[in-house]
Amino acid sequence: MTSRAPLSRKLSAIAESATLKVDAKAKALQAAGRPVISYAAGEPDFATPSFIVDAAAEALQDPKNYRYTPAAGLPVLREAIAAKTLRDSGLEVAPSQVIVTNGGKQSVYQAFQTVVNPGDEVLLPAPYWTTYPEAIALAEGTPVEVFAGADQDYKVTVAQLEAARTDKTTVLVFVSPSNPTGSVYTPEETAEIGRWALEHGIWVVTDEIYQNLTYEGAKAVSIVEAVPELAGQTILVNGVAKTYAMTGWRVGWMVGPADAMKLA
Ligand SMILES: Cc1ncc(COP(=O)(O)O)c(C=O)c1O
Repeated sequence: MTSRAPLSRKLSAIAESATLKVDAKAKALQAAGRPVISYAAGEPDFATPSFIVDAAAEALQDPKNYRYTPAAGLPVLREAIAAKTLRDSGLEVAPSQVIVTNGGKQSVYQAFQTVVNPGDEVLLPAPYWTTYPEAIALAEGTPVEVFAGADQDYKVTVAQLEAARTDKTTVLVFVSPSNPTGSVYTPEETAEIGRWALEHGIWVVTDEIYQNLTYEGAKAVSIVEAVPELAGQTILVNGVAKTYAMTGWRVGWMVGPADAMKLA
C-alpha cells in the first residue's frame, strides 16, 4: 500500500494562533473557577448592545436577508460601510470598493493575497498582532520586522522604515491604535509615514479595527486622511468586533482602490 499524499506544506508551516491558544487556556482556567483576567483576545467584556441584537433578530424574519448574497456582501451593508469609512477614516469610496468578509482576520488575509507577490518584503512594525506574519507568509511574502520599544512609545519612525527598505519592499503594515501596545500615532507621525510610503510606491495595509477605541482625547487619524493621495495604494481593514462588541458575529471588511478590490 502506498502512503497517503502529504497535507499542504504551506498550511502546515503556519503557526497556530498564539492569541487564540492563550485565550482558550484562560477560558479553561475561568471555567475551572480560577479568577483569571485574560488579556489574550481583544474582546470587550460586555454584551453586544441590545439595539443591534434586536435589529438582527428582526432582520432574520425577512428571507431576503439570508439568501445567497453577492460574494462581496449585501449592497446595503457595503453602502453603510462606505459611509462609515468617510465618517471615521475621512475617505470617500464607492460601495463597490468595499468587500465584506468573515471578520477582520479574513480581510487581513485577503489584503496580503491582493498586494503581495512571492518574495516581496513586507515591513511589519513590532510588537505586532501575531496573525500578520502568518498571513504574509501565506501570500509568499517575507515579513521584515521593524522594532519599536517602550523608549519610543512602540511607534516606528520613518528613519527606521527607510533603513529597513530594500528594492524588494512593496508593503507596509500600519496599525494605529496598535494591538498589542495600544499606541496611537499622532496625525503628524501618521502623515510622515504616509508620505514616505507614497514617495516609494509602497502599498499600505492599514488595520483600523481599533480606531474607535481611543482614550484621553487621542484620535487615531487614518493614514489616508493624513495623506489623501495614498488612497490609490492603501487597503483599509476593519470590522465590527471591537467597536460594537461583536467578536463572534464575524463581520469585517476591506476597502481599497477599485482595481485591487476587483482582484480581492
Ligand atoms: C489588530 C487586529 N486586527 C484584526 C483583528 C480581527 O478581528 P475579527 O476577525 O474578530 O474581526 C483583530 C482581532 O483580535 C485584531 O486584534
